Amino acid sequence: MTEPVSTAAEFVVVANRLPVDLDRSADGTQRWTASPGGLVSALEPFLRSRKGAWVGWPGVPDVEVDEFSDDGLVLHPVTLSSEEVTDYYEGFSNATLWPLYHDVVARPVFDRAWWDSYVKVNRRFAEASAKVAGEGAVVWVQDYQLQLVPSMLRELRPDLRIGFFLHIPFPPVELFMQLPWRAEIVRGLIGADLVGFHRPGGAQNFLWLARQLIGLEPSRGAVGVRSRPGVVQVGDRTVRVGAFPISIDAAGLDTLARTKKVADRAAEIRRDLGNPKTVLLGVDRLDYTKGIDLRLQAFHELLQEDRVKPEDVAFIQLATPSRERVEHYQRMRGEIEQMVGRINGEFARVGHPVVHYLHQSVDRTELAAFFSAADVMVVTPLRDGMNLVCKEYVACRHDLGGTLVLSEFAGAAAELSSAFLVNPHDLDGVKSALAAAITLDPAEGRRRMRALRRQVLTHDVDRWARSFLEALGSEPSA
Ligand code: ADP
Ligand code: G6P
Repeated sequence: MTEPVSTAAEFVVVANRLPVDLDRSADGTQRWTASPGGLVSALEPFLRSRKGAWVGWPGVPDVEVDEFSDDGLVLHPVTLSSEEVTDYYEGFSNATLWPLYHDVVARPVFDRAWWDSYVKVNRRFAEASAKVAGEGAVVWVQDYQLQLVPSMLRELRPDLRIGFFLHIPFPPVELFMQLPWRAEIVRGLIGADLVGFHRPGGAQNFLWLARQLIGLEPSRGAVGVRSRPGVVQVGDRTVRVGAFPISIDAAGLDTLARTKKVADRAAEIRRDLGNPKTVLLGVDRLDYTKGIDLRLQAFHELLQEDRVKPEDVAFIQLATPSRERVEHYQRMRGEIEQMVGRINGEFARVGHPVVHYLHQSVDRTELAAFFSAADVMVVTPLRDGMNLVCKEYVACRHDLGGTLVLSEFAGAAAELSSAFLVNPHDLDGVKSALAAAITLDPAEGRRRMRALRRQVLTHDVDRWARSFLEALGSEPSA
């Protein structure tokens, strides 16, 4: 991984993060590790197959890294200063836009200095992309951190074909209208030839805002899933606005989950837990939108009410560290760790905790083993653009075992209707779903899992990317 490169790319992904993070240890040694989150999980396998270029931040402040090639994928690092990490990344991206776009489940902070930093850093990404892209190239800009890049890049390079995809929910218009810089964001996005969301509702909201905030005349018909995009004329350009639900490398995970290594490790995990009747599993970035506290509370109450016996169950929660300097994240981590302590304090026996909490990231093979070992997968976000974890679980269950409990407020719920769908705000409903999943008749479980797998295996990340790029006009229709 480190040959320098300098050719102009025909296909460029621009995202806040590179697919790898620079990890610097105290002794000064450096290594690259996989970046966290669904955006990278989804896009990386696709881009590797394309041998494109990726413009992004290496995950640590104040480092200058030259472009380099990693197994055919060319990485172009963009430097952020410590102050920009505070104001653009932790501030405007993750303490303003993230909570605002996730239904204000935490209160967004509107800070003018953060906005200024967001504009400045978006310009830097646009300039870096303009340098990397070859004549007439396709540039695909990703996510809420870079919503101004499409227009900035178009000004610099009108020859490019520019797509934008939002990986998080696009909020209801009433919430978006709170943003002091709402018109600037809409103008930034409209610089793309195609603006993509997970759900038709997001696309419709955006079209409404384009009319209200910048006086454009968008089409009025209903937007479909991967079909019937909305259309807006912006001067002599036609901008399309559509819905493209993202997915995973389903075949890759299916193959991995069928290996002996994963099966052996899954059996070992169950043995290490003391072979309980039921293993429940949560896998998330440690984020307040994920509803980790709610699922622990539901589990706690089931134990307290004796609807679940502590000797029969083990609840594993894997939580990737995330955005650790942002206040909401610090507070939530404290609350979750206190709940884990309380539940174990009441119900553990020596050598047998009921909740196993790992504040760690694990590799793909280990993750597939956890998915294979779990009888009940608990995915309870208060709001999630898509949620890939639930699809990954399904892809790993070639044995048709396992039951999925899934929040209605994850984008994935629209596709995974054979899961036990729950409203995470309704604690009694979550408890009932968990209890039902734990005692589910195996034949009914297999029926549900078969239906889930049919959906996930036929709608993979490759299909997502191809449908987006076809709509962008850069890919021949299938
Ligand atoms: P988000 O993008 O908000 O983090 P997603 O569910 O869409 O949520 O994607 C999360 C990705 O991160 C998935 O690919 C999931 O497997 C991975 N992931 C989450 N937690 C862990 C963990 N503890 N160890 C390894 N991978 C994890
Ligand atoms: C979500 C976002 C991504 C982000 C990821 C990890 O998936 O949609 O844009 O990269 O979370 O978050 P982080 O702040 O660590 O990049």
